[in-house]
Amino acid sequence: MNTISKDDLTRLFQSVFDGTPDLIVRSPGRINLIGEHTDYNNGFVLPATISQAVYVAMRRREDGVIHLYAADYEEKVNADVAALAPTATWADYILGVADQFQKAGHALPGFELVMTGNIPMGAGLSSSAAIECAVAFGLNEMLQTGYDRLQLVKMAQAAEHAFAGVRCGIMDMFASMFGKKDHAILLDCRSLDYRYVPLAMDGYNLLLFNSNVKHSLASSEYNVRRQECEEGVALLQTEYPEISDLRDVTQEMLAAFEGRMPRNVFKRCSYVVGENARLLAACDDLESNNIAALGKKLNQTHAGLSEAYEVSCPELDFLAQAALVHPAVEGARMVGGGFGGCTINIVREGFADDLAGSVSNAYRQKMDKITEVYHVVTDDGTSLL
Ligand code: GLA
Repeated sequence: MNTISKDDLTRLFQSVFDGTPDLIVRSPGRINLIGEHTDYNNGFVLPATISQAVYVAMRRREDGVIHLYAADYEEKVNADVAALAPTATWADYILGVADQFQKAGHALPGFELVMTGNIPMGAGLSSSAAIECAVAFGLNEMLQTGYDRLQLVKMAQAAEHAFAGVRCGIMDMFASMFGKKDHAILLDCRSLDYRYVPLAMDGYNLLLFNSNVKHSLASSEYNVRRQECEEGVALLQTEYPEISDLRDVTQEMLAAFEGRMPRNVFKRCSYVVGENARLLAACDDLESNNIAALGKKLNQTHAGLSEAYEVSCPELDFLAQAALVHPAVEGARMVGGGFGGCTINIVREGFADDLAGSVSNAYRQKMDKITEVYHVVTDDGTSLL
């Protein structure tokens, strides 16, 4: 991975817009150890921020025009602050956040922005949330609006809903903004209480395999899953009016509903109920460095996402299974929303290269596809550079 310095960003900005930027923001991508599709169900998640990040260099303008340049696409987009609307391009992650500032009552004067980064796109590592967080953080500085990190997280999430059309949960933005090197964040997505859990994993490494596929189902099916879970909660509430989310439901309560819910709704609910419980137990494994037990839970999560939640795909299933064949692997599962992106793997120290070689070969031979391999290095959340 190439590192990107403040000088690189300043030079890049100068080459596109004359002069120097007012500020530069770095906002990282994330992995999630366990707790997938639980955030919008007001459950628990356990993400950690990684060293791959998005960088934006910004400068204020006073003429009501926004000039954007994405260095990695070599594309420019201009927009008028008085007429912000989705464009169905990468610019939406920036314009959507600008729109949230306006909706909150802050008239935008205009700005120039250059963006670059090294989070692989479409890999389930939250490159879009990282852009949104970087822009929210940058506008907050530029306009001196004084929002705290949590308020910026909520604006970034609202931007994703409004401009990208994905009814995502809060995990990705929260992780990008609140990440801490060498730690995962145990976040309660209902109360938004959180605590940092040391990600020591003595004797083990985390490795990602990028499937290099992103199926078109990703965002439409995501919204469908959210609806199915809401439908499940509504049905459960007919008997248990006190529950508000699937985390309030036990497997026993759910079992009684098996014949009283559409089959798909029952399957989605049973996965989410299991995943919340699994995550809380996984935190104990992590804290006691019982990595074998943690790994087993990752495998169960993958099975649940693949069979009950149905958000995996043949490529992800293949990568997870191919890794588990290796004796040094304790756990493997898909990460993020699904339908493509990466798998995350827990591998004993000293065996990462061997594993990478065998999984890449198998993926090429059996699936005729190339995988990229990333070593997970954790890092801090959004900051000024
Ligand atoms: C995507 C969403 C998150 C979360 C994950 C699945 O990354 O943006 O909010 O729901 O999928 O855990």
